[in-house]
Amino acid sequence: SNTLIPVIAIDGPTASGKGTVAQLVAERLGYHYLDSGALYRLVGLASSKVGVSTASEPDLIPIAENLNVNFQGDRVFLAGEDVTDQIRQEEMGKRASEVAVHTGVRNALVSRQRAFRQKPGLVADGRDMASVIFTDAATKVFLTASAEARADRRYKQLIAKGFSANIQVLLQDLRERDARDANRSNSPLKAVEGAHHLDTTSMTIEEAVNQVLKWHQAS
Ligand code: DC
Repeated sequence: SNTLIPVIAIDGPTASGKGTVAQLVAERLGYHYLDSGALYRLVGLASSKVGVSTASEPDLIPIAENLNVNFQGDRVFLAGEDVTDQIRQEEMGKRASEVAVHTGVRNALVSRQRAFRQKPGLVADGRDMASVIFTDAATKVFLTASAEARADRRYKQLIAKGFSANIQVLLQDLRERDARDANRSNSPLKAVEGAHHLDTTSMTIEEAVNQVLKWHQAS
């Protein structure tokens, strides 16, 4: 059964660096990688394209069920269109967080996420990887960083990609998103029992990656 295939679950708030760390851990181990946030961002994008509000759960469910998505390396395609940069925009992060409060939307994405569990292993990042999607993960990591450090990282990422950004606005958005993700009734962001806590505020990416690998080796 595929429950024998090891999973490393990395959960944490937005811009904590979990995506970067998860991808590098996957690379080092030759594991597959699931960016679960991308699926919520895609629901946010696909719904905006057809003018569906993030408040309208009944209209969002079929969109989530029928997402025509393809991951190719670090590019994401929606119905054949490369939407990697579009889904990374702040606006899509906000829409993702809004669509993600709906139980019907979350349920529609469960089997799609579990299908990423393939040999020789999977590194999955998100909010509910350890608590809901891969409850039997071999290694569970709750990765955080201070809000200021996260806003600063997000700012640098956006500038590097040629987007404009304002650090105060980013910090404000980040706090709003944290509150929505942590306070929703379905699958809120929280550390599960047995999760390793990793505060990366003053860590390098390399240090964080090595720590996760060490925990996984010991699991
Ligand atoms: O990780 P991210 O910033 O790309 O995620 C975008 C939003 O998607 C996040 O604010 C909440 C939602 N999300 C979720 O509810 N559950 C997940 N496993 C991943 C993301």
